[in-house]
Amino acid sequence: MTRIDKNPNGGRTGNAVEVRGLVKHYGDTKALDGIDLDVREGTVLGVLGPNGAGKTTLVRILSTLVQPDAGTAMVAGYDVLRQPRQLRRTIGLTGQYASVDEKLSGWENLYMIGRLLDLSRADARRRADELLERFSLTEAAKRPAMQYSGGMRRRLDLAASMIGHPAVLYLDEPTTGLDPRTRNEVWEEVQRMVAEGATVLLTTQYMEEAEQLANELTVIDRGRIIASGGVDELKARVGGRTLQIRPADPAQLASMAQALTDSGLVGLAGAQADAAEGLVHVAILSDEQLTAVIGLLGERGFGIANIGTHLPSLDEVFLAITGQKTSPSDATTTGATAGSDTTPEEVAA
Ligand SMILES: Nc1ncnc2c1ncn2[C@@H]1O[C@H](COP(=O)(O)OP(=O)(O)OP(=O)(O)O)[C@@H](O)[C@H]1O
Ligand SMILES: [Mg+2]
Repeated sequence: MTRIDKNPNGGRTGNAVEVRGLVKHYGDTKALDGIDLDVREGTVLGVLGPNGAGKTTLVRILSTLVQPDAGTAMVAGYDVLRQPRQLRRTIGLTGQYASVDEKLSGWENLYMIGRLLDLSRADARRRADELLERFSLTEAAKRPAMQYSGGMRRRLDLAASMIGHPAVLYLDEPTTGLDPRTRNEVWEEVQRMVAEGATVLLTTQYMEEAEQLANELTVIDRGRIIASGGVDELKARVGGRTLQIRPADPAQLASMAQALTDSGLVGLAGAQADAAEGLVHVAILSDEQLTAVIGLLGERGFGIANIGTHLPSLDEVFLAITGQKTSPSDATTTGATAGSDTTPEEVAA
C-alpha cells in the first residue's frame, strides 16, 4: 500500500510557516520587534503594513537572505538558521523590486533560473516555455526584459519564483504600481497556485488585495503586530465596506437614510445622509447585506440612481485599530528601504 505523505519533513502538518519572537535591529531602527505568526499549509497570510513597517525584513529573514538578531522561524519544517539550504529549495520569492536580468530575454531569464535550480537543460526549457505561456508572455519571450512594461516584468518575476514548484511562496507587494488589469491577472495567478496547494505569505499595502487573496491577516507597524485575525474579523473591527447610494430623487435623501436605519437589517450600523454629496452612506460587512439593502429600498419604493462601494484604506484600518494615524516619519524611511532592497546580501553582517 502506498502512503502519500505530503509533508515528509518530520511528519509535521498544519503550519507551513512558524515565526516566534523574531527581532531584527538596524542600528537604532527596530525593523522587527518581536513578531509571532503562523501560516497554515495551503492558505494565504496577508501581512499588511505601511512603509517601513518591517514587511520586507520579515520576508528576507524567511528567505534566509538576512539573519535575525533573536527569535526562531521555521518554513516547511526547516529552520532558517540551521537548515537554510533545504529551506531555500522549498520556497519561491517575488521581491518588492523586479529582480530579472535586464539584458536577457524573458525566456533566457527563466531558463537560467531553472538551470540554477539544477533542472536538466530539457526540463529548464520546458518549464520556461510553460511559465511564459501561463503568464501571457510567449509573444514577448525573445525580447530583452529591459523592453518589458512594469506589468510584464512583474509577471516575469512571478514566473521566475515558480520555476522550482515551491511549496511556500513569498510575495512582497506583488502588485504595487500595477494597473488594475495587470493586478487582476496577478491575483488570478496567485489564486491558481493556492488552489494547487501552495502556501503564500503576501505583503501588501492594499486592503483590497488582502481581501481578495488572504485567509488570515496580520497588521504590523514599526516591527510589531498590532492586529491579526480572519479577514472578516478585521474588517468588522474597521467597519467593513461603506455603500454610497445616490437616490434617484435627491429629495428622498433623508427619508432613505431613515428607512435604512429603522430597517433592523442585521449588522447594519446605521445610515447617514450626506447632503453635500447627495449620498447615503451605509456600513456593511457582507455581500448579503448589500443585497438586503438594495432589496429593502426596492420594497419601500425608493429609486436608486447609483451605488458605489468604498473599502477602508490601510490608513482607516490603522485609525480604527490603533486610534492613531500612521506616523509621518514612516514615509521618510521609504527611500532608505527602496535603496536597501536592491542589495539583498548582508547575511555576513
Ligand atoms: N539594510 C537596512 N539597513 C538599515 N535599515 C534598514 C535596512 N533594511 C530595512 N531597514 C529599516 O528597517 C525598517 C523596516 O524596513 P522594511 O523594508 O522591512 O519595511 P517595509 O514594511 O518593507 O516597507 P515598504 O512598505 O516601504 O517596503 C525601516 O525603518 C527601514 O528603513
Ligand atoms: Mg518592503
